[in-house]
This record gives sequence, C-alpha cells and structure tokens, in this order.
Amino acid sequence: MRVLITGGYGFIGAWIIRNLLAQGDEVWVYDLKEDPRRLRAIMPEAEVRKVVFVPGDVTDLPRLQKALADFRISHIIHLAGLQVPTCRVNPILGAQVNVIGTLTVFEAIRLAGDQIKRLVYASSSAVLGPPEKYPKGPLADDVKLLPSTHYGHFKICNEGNAAIYFQENGISSIGLRPWTVYGVGRDLGMTSEPTKAIKSVAINRPYHISYGGWQDLQYVDDVARIFVRCLMQPDQGAKSYNIRGTVVDLPPFHKAFCKV
Ligand SMILES: NC(=O)c1ccc[n+]([C@@H]2O[C@H](COP(=O)([O-])OP(=O)(O)OC[C@H]3O[C@@H](n4cnc5c(N)ncnc54)[C@H](O)[C@@H]3O)[C@@H](O)[C@H]2O)c1
Repeated sequence: MRVLITGGYGFIGAWIIRNLLAQGDEVWVYDLKEDPRRLRAIMPEAEVRKVVFVPGDVTDLPRLQKALADFRISHIIHLAGLQVPTCRVNPILGAQVNVIGTLTVFEAIRLAGDQIKRLVYASSSAVLGPPEKYPKGPLADDVKLLPSTHYGHFKICNEGNAAIYFQENGISSIGLRPWTVYGVGRDLGMTSEPTKAIKSVAINRPYHISYGGWQDLQYVDDVARIFVRCLMQPDQGAKSYNIRGTVVDLPPFHKAFCKV
C-alpha cells in the first residue's frame, strides 16, 4: 500500500507508521510541520528516514489533491485533528480542522476518481454519552450518541458526512472510535493524564490525575493495529466502530500509580 496519513506525526500516527513500515508499506505524512520526534521515540532512525513528509494543512483541498496525485497514494488514514481542551477553548478552529478538514479529505478522494482504495479515519468515543446513560458492558456500535462536548459533535458530523459520501459517491470508509489511548508519545489532550501518571512511576516523580470516573484505556499499539487491519479490509460501506480496551475506574488507578 502507498499510504498517506494526515496528522501522521501525532501520537497514534507514529504507531500506525511503525506497523505499516514493518509490513513493507510505503508511508507519506501529511502534517503542518515536520516533527518526527514521536517516531524517533519508538523506531530506529533508518526506519524514520523511510517516511516522506508532505507539508500541508488538512483543510487545503488543492494541496491535498496534489499530494494524492504526486505520490500515487492508494490508501489514506485520516488522523489530523484538534482534541479537547483545544476544541473547548476555540470551537471555531476546532470545527475548521475536525469537520472541514474531514470533508476536505472526502472531497479529495472524490476528485481522485477510483485512485483511493480505502479511507480509515479517527472518530472518537466522545460521540458517546457518560457510562450511566448506557447498559453495563461493551456497547454496540449503533447505540444512541449523546456527546457532551463540541469535539464529540464534530466527530458525529464526520461520521454523518462519511455516510453521505458513501450514499452519494460510493466512497467507502471506516470510522474508529478510540477512547483514552495511552503509550509512548501521548503528550496532548485531556486524556493524556493516565499516560503521564504511568510515566511518573517510571521516572519516580509525583503526579496527580485531575479528573475521575470510568475510562476505557487502550494501548496505542493495539489501536494502531486496528487502524492498519481496517485499511486492508475490502468491504464496502461507511460504518463507525467502537474500540474496547481495559475499562478502569480512575480513583483506584490513581492510587496505584500516583504518589500524590
Ligand atoms: N489520543 C486519543 O486518546 C484519541 C482518542 C479518540 C480519538 N482520537 C483522535 O485520533 C486522532 C489522532 O489523535 P492523536 O492522539 O494522534 O492526536 P495528536 O494531537 O497527537 O496528533 C494530531 C496531529 O494532527 C496534526 N494537525 C493538527 N491540525 C492539522 C491541520 N490543520 N492540518 C494537518 N495536520 C494537522 C498535528 O500537527 C498532529 O501531528 C485525532 O483525530 C483524535 O481526535 C484520539
């Protein structure tokens, strides 16, 4: 596969790249600036050098179209996005990147004809409501969506637009809804705190998780492998899927990992 990853220098992107390179795929990172520090933290320099950087904003349709054409891209993983709290502080910018950016990816695919074989994009468990709104245990993918943030609504909008692109243009896609992804390189977003708590144990420093409640902790390499496997699926449609990891109650987690 010749895979372009929007937002590929981010946390999840770095781990997806590691998996794609390991199975012999070629990778282009479409991101705002060249920043391979997360790649360097998890793979040897010779592997990092195989990744081609393509500077670009995900909302810039002509530039994205040119990248798809110039590099004869066959598959896309779309990760570029802004998280909470950025979307809370600046919802207009959040909508531009998360919603317009995702529409731009779909438009670029539509304009590329049948060149792009598969799109997998990051939705989020933020489309769901709080645990007390649902029955206990794993949730079906089609439960009622009850987001409590702009960010969650932006992700629902993307899932809806994906369904329309399939209905009107036959563009297949898979949306994945991670919850709290943790592991090396997780340094942004509100739910980066469990990763920082684990790191605090490793470097023997105190840490305090600022929020409580239930969380589904998902190891980043597991999530990355799910993205890659979905990229290789031939099925048609525009569905979104929940991802389940290890569900923990944060106060006992905090007690086990944090010294404050
Ligand atoms: N990390 C999680 O726990 C988690 C959970 C659910 C969903 N997600 C979603 O997964 C995706 C990736 O998450 P992550 O943790 O790797 O995020 P991240 O913040 O580490 O990386 C995001 C990347 O997007 C890039 N980017 C931002 N604006 C851009 C723009 N306008 N044009 C091009 N690139 C741009 C950034 O430079 C960065 O490299 C996001 O869409 C996020 O909403 C993440």
